[in-house]
Amino acid sequence: MGSPRLNAETLLMFVLGVNRAYLYAHPERELNDDQQARYHEVIGQRSTGMPSQYITGHQEFWGLDFVVSPAVLIPRPETEHLVETVLELAREVPRPRIVDVGTGSGCIALALTHELKNAEVYAVDLSADALEIARANAARLQLDGKVTFLQCNVLAALADRRDFDFVVSNPPYVGNDEADKVQRSVFEFEPRMAVFSGESGLDVIRPLIAQAHVALKSGGWLAMEIGYSMRDVVVALLNPTLWDEPMVVPDLQGIPRVIAARKK
Ligand SMILES: C[S@@+](CC[C@H](N)C(=O)[O-])C[C@H]1O[C@@H](n2cnc3c(N)ncnc32)[C@H](O)[C@@H]1O
Repeated sequence: MGSPRLNAETLLMFVLGVNRAYLYAHPERELNDDQQARYHEVIGQRSTGMPSQYITGHQEFWGLDFVVSPAVLIPRPETEHLVETVLELAREVPRPRIVDVGTGSGCIALALTHELKNAEVYAVDLSADALEIARANAARLQLDGKVTFLQCNVLAALADRRDFDFVVSNPPYVGNDEADKVQRSVFEFEPRMAVFSGESGLDVIRPLIAQAHVALKSGGWLAMEIGYSMRDVVVALLNPTLWDEPMVVPDLQGIPRVIAARKK
């Protein structure tokens, strides 16, 4: 989560209510007693391992400012690959119908809504607390009214729909027995249900694939983010009689990050 210097600067900007440009332009500025006390307090929180985003309450994603709380996963830059993939595929669709499963902060659904002015967008999550943050983000980004938020398990609340062009998801995908592979700050501070998904990390992905096939129209796309070693396992779950050969998109480090499969 950034270098110590960047973290210290971010927290100082937060305490003073200033931006980085101000910080660099005023190296001579001294903190008053209140500011010093507040700065020590937030440094203390950070030293427990709490991500600075949960302290400041903000994270940028797709160039947009999202509020975050410990009820939601902190949006990650690699998830922007999923947004890019969907935007590329949506170019040919005049009024795309999209549902984001496990919306968390709403970052994927709201980035897509921001870009695709004619899209009809739904965003679902099992967590009521996460949906509260997602709704707040929609309002702050002046995108409320353009996204329908629903609390449900995978696509249960949309079980009667068969007309989506895109089912998009960054599902929880870490196996319970892989806890030692996630960073300590993720394990200790981010919501368990946003990160972990059963023994092998597939407890949401399996129903997602099955229910997406029902929700999508023929030719519609399921696009999801996957864990760094999951490509073969997830591709094997995409029955070739139901789905075209999936597309696998690597991240900047060459790690397979997004799988997009088209319903036959
Ligand atoms: C990895 S986080 C992704 C959050 C956000 N979309 C992002 O990319 O930053 C997964 C999200 O799925 C939600 N979730 C977990 N199990 C779910 C289920 N069975 N049905 C719907 N949402 C679920 C979690 O609450 C969490 O918000």
